[in-house]
Amino acid sequence: MTLSLYGFSGKNFGGKRVLEKGKLITFEGIDGSGKTTQIRYLDDYLRSLGFSTLYLREPGGTRIGEGIRRLLLDSRFTEMTSETELFLFEAARAQLIREIVRPALDRGVWVISDRFHDSTVAYQGYGRGLDVRLIRDLNQLAMGGTVPDLTILLELPQDTRSARLDERHEDGRSDRLDVEPDAFKQRVCQGFRAIAREEPSRVVSIRSQEEKEETARLIREQVRSRLL
Ligand code: TYD
Repeated sequence: MTLSLYGFSGKNFGGKRVLEKGKLITFEGIDGSGKTTQIRYLDDYLRSLGFSTLYLREPGGTRIGEGIRRLLLDSRFTEMTSETELFLFEAARAQLIREIVRPALDRGVWVISDRFHDSTVAYQGYGRGLDVRLIRDLNQLAMGGTVPDLTILLELPQDTRSARLDERHEDGRSDRLDVEPDAFKQRVCQGFRAIAREEPSRVVSIRSQEEKEETARLIREQVRSRLL
C-alpha cells in the first residue's frame, strides 16, 4: 500500500519555541500540476525554519481514508455515480480532519495537504455539475470549522499538463479520474479559478514556472508574507 502520511519532526528554536497552534496549508490544482514536488520543497523550507510538519494527501491519510481512496480511484468502478463519489470524498475528509489534522494542529504541527475541500468544489461541483452550494455545506460538515490558513493553487499551461498526463497514461498509472475527458478538466480548472477569485485572502494562485525552484521561491514568498 502506498503510504500517504509522512510525519516529519522539525527542530525547535533552541528548545524555546512556545507551543502555538500549527497552520494548515493546502495545495490545489488540476492533476499533473506539480503539487507533490512543490509540497516537498515547502516542507523542507518549513523544517529548516524549525517547524514540525506533517504531509498528507486527500483522499487518504487514515486507514479508513486509504480504503475509501482505493474505491474512488479504482478504474474498474465505472458505474460510480457523482453523488456516491461526493460522499466518499467527504467521508474520507471527515475522518482525516478529526483523526489526524486537528490533533496535529493542536500540537503545533504545520500540516500540508495535497488537495483538500476546494478539490471537491472544483471536481464534483464544476467538473461533475453537482450543486456547488450543497457541496460547500457538505464541506462544512466534514471540516467542522477546520479551514486552511493558506491555499496554494498551482496553475500549469495546458500543453505541459497534457504531456505529463500522457506520460502517466503510457506508464499505466492513470486512475478513474485521470481518464476523464479534457472538457471535464477544463471545467475543473475554471472551478479552481473561481474559488481563487472568491477567496483572495485564503487562496493564492501561482503559475508553475519552467524552473521548479523558481515556483518554490514564489510559494515561499507567499507563505512568509501571509503566515510567518
Ligand atoms: P491523486 O492520485 O491523489 O491525484 P493528484 O496527483 O492529481 O492529486 O488522485 C486524487 C484524484 O481525486 C484527483 O483526480 C482529484 C480527485 N479529487 C476529487 O475529485 N475530489 C476531491 O475532493 C479530492 C480531494 C480529489
